[in-house]
Parts: sequence; C-alpha cells; structure tokens
Amino acid sequence: MRIPGRVSIVEVGPRDGLQNEQSLITTADKITFIDQLTAAGHRVIEVAAFVSPKWVPQMADASEVLAGITRRDGMRYTALVPNRAGLTRAMAAGVTEVAIFAAASETFSQRNLNQSIEASLVTYADVCREALAAGLRVRGYLSTCFGCPYEGAVAPTQVAAIARRLFDLGVFEIAISDTIGVAHPGQVPQVLDAVAASVPLAQVALHFHDTRGTALANVLAGLDYGVTTFDSAAGGLGGCPFAPGAAGNLATEDLLYMLNGLGAETGVDLSRVATASQFIQTCLGHRLPSRYLQSMPS
Ligand code: HMG
Ligand code: MG
Repeated sequence: MRIPGRVSIVEVGPRDGLQNEQSLITTADKITFIDQLTAAGHRVIEVAAFVSPKWVPQMADASEVLAGITRRDGMRYTALVPNRAGLTRAMAAGVTEVAIFAAASETFSQRNLNQSIEASLVTYADVCREALAAGLRVRGYLSTCFGCPYEGAVAPTQVAAIARRLFDLGVFEIAISDTIGVAHPGQVPQVLDAVAASVPLAQVALHFHDTRGTALANVLAGLDYGVTTFDSAAGGLGGCPFAPGAAGNLATEDLLYMLNGLGAETGVDLSRVATASQFIQTCLGHRLPSRYLQSMPS
C-alpha cells in the first residue's frame, strides 16, 4: 500500500460539524472551539458558512465568528458561500478563502441549494469570477459523489463531468464528497479513476462521512490511489440537514490516530484535537462519535 510522507487535513468541524446540531451553540463557544483547533496545529479550518440563516440557523453568526477568532499567521480560515450574497458577507468578514458546493445528483442540488446543478454552476461562475478577481482562493465541494439520499447510485462519469466544470471555474481543489457515508473502499478507486481523467489528481481531496463505519477504510483506499488531502471533523461531529441519514464526518482524532500509526506527517496534535472535541462535546451536551475520543478515560 502507498502511504505518503505527508498528509493535509482540512478540519471542517466548526462548519460541517456544527451545522447539523439542533441546539444553537453560542458564538463565544464556537470561537473557543476554533481557537483550540488552531492551537492543535491545523493549517486549514473551515470555520463557518455564509449561507441563508433561514436555511441553516446555526451558521447565522458566521461574521461574528470570523471577527472573534484569533487568526494565526499562515493559517487558512475558510467558509462556505452559496451565492454572491454569501461572498459579499464573507469578504466583509475578512475571509481570504471560500468554498463553493455543488452536487453530482439533481435532487440533492435542489434540496440543498434550491437550484438545479446547471443553475448552481451559473451562480458559482459569478461567485468565482468575483472572488478570484478580489484575490481570494476558492475551493470546490462536490456532494453525493458516491451515492445520493434521494436518487441512489450516481455514475462516476457524472461526478467527473461536474468536477471538471468546477475545475474550469478556477477552484484550486475539489473535495470529492460522500455526503451520506455510503462509500466503500472498492468504490473509491472507481470514482477516482473517472475524476482523475478529468482533473489533476493533485487537486483532488476526499471528504468522507462515517455513517456506515467505512470512512477510514476509504481514506486508506484514497491514500493508496495517491490522494493526500482529506477532510475531517473534530470528534466526528457532523452531517447535512438536507441529506437524510447523513451522520458525522470522519473524526479527525480517528484519522490522526491511523495516520500517526502509518507514519504520515500532518502537523496536527491528536491530544489537542481531543481537548477541543471534549470542549464542544460539553457545550452540545451529547457524546460525539469519534472512536478515539470514546476510548479516552473520562
Ligand atoms: P433560496 O430560498 O432559494 O434563496 O435559497 P433566496 O435568494 O430566495 O433567499 C432566501 C432568503 O435568504 C432571502 O431573505 C435572502 O436574502 C436570504 P428574505 O428576502 O427572505 O429575507 N439569503 C441569504 N442571506 C444570507 N446569506 C446568504 C443568503 N442567500 C440568500 N448567502 C440558498 C437559496 C442557496 C440561499 C439556500 O438554499 C442556502 O443557503 N443553502 C445552503 C444549504 C446549506 O448550507 N447546506 C449545508 C452545506 S452543504 C454540505 O454540508 C455538503 C458538504 O459538506 C459536502 C458533502 O458532505 O457532500 C459541503
Ligand atoms: Mg459534508
């Protein structure tokens, strides 16, 4: 098996993780959580989403979160934007990197964005033009690459075609996402074969949810294929409010435990991530799913 010397982790807990939580977390607690994740040595943290607060109330305080965190030099603090309104808010909050998010299946695009795939790509063309002209970096997510909660199987050729459209908009990286955690390690190379024929593999990241317990196995399959960037969320927080059955993201602790064992450098301190998870777990008032976290003495 191919294991790279260095792996990049994109911490998405404060955004993908918290967006699915029913109880509203205070802005101060979100800021403490993000600052603890910064202290853990992360290089990239997705801290918020500038989406409609009517759609995702938990993300309504995105600007206040950005204003309150302590930004460490060299760190990338990124945020989701679904449209020009979101980009305007993100830029006003001093964000230098944003992420757009399209879907590989039509029904999920409608449920998540209230737009068809085509319409969302027109919106994103506008967002990218403005963001790139202002000197921002833009990341692209592609949801439902391994299956859709509404339509079932999604063809890898469809994934590759939309990935290429995002790439042509100027995104620096495309997170091939398993929105509802249905992927298995046999499927990972099949999807990557199609994607890598459309966009450079060096610009592909993998974003797994761990609904069925296959996320770490999928990471191994991705590493072996040559992918070196993976998204994860502290404590295994997460899910998408518009994807029924979507459970937590791959837990950062579980990912780190495996990568440390394999000798792949990340620069992220496992025990400090666990401290951040324990803090947010207390704020949420329920146990987080990370297996590593659960194995720690309380
Ligand atoms: P819409 O209702 O069709 O849009 O929503 P609209 O233009 O009619 O706007 C509705 C209201 O929201 C209006 O306010 C707008 O001004 C306001 P009103 O006039 O009614 O008072 N509005 C905004 N306010 C603040 N910021 C904005 C914004 N945009 C509109 N940016 C829209 C369309 C795209 C806005 C909506 O569908 C939306 O916000 N969707 C986001 C859903 C979301 O956040 N999903 C979760 C993130 S994606 C994910 O988790 C997957 C990922 O992790 C990868 C994976 O795992 O697959 C990334
Ligand atoms: Mg996600």
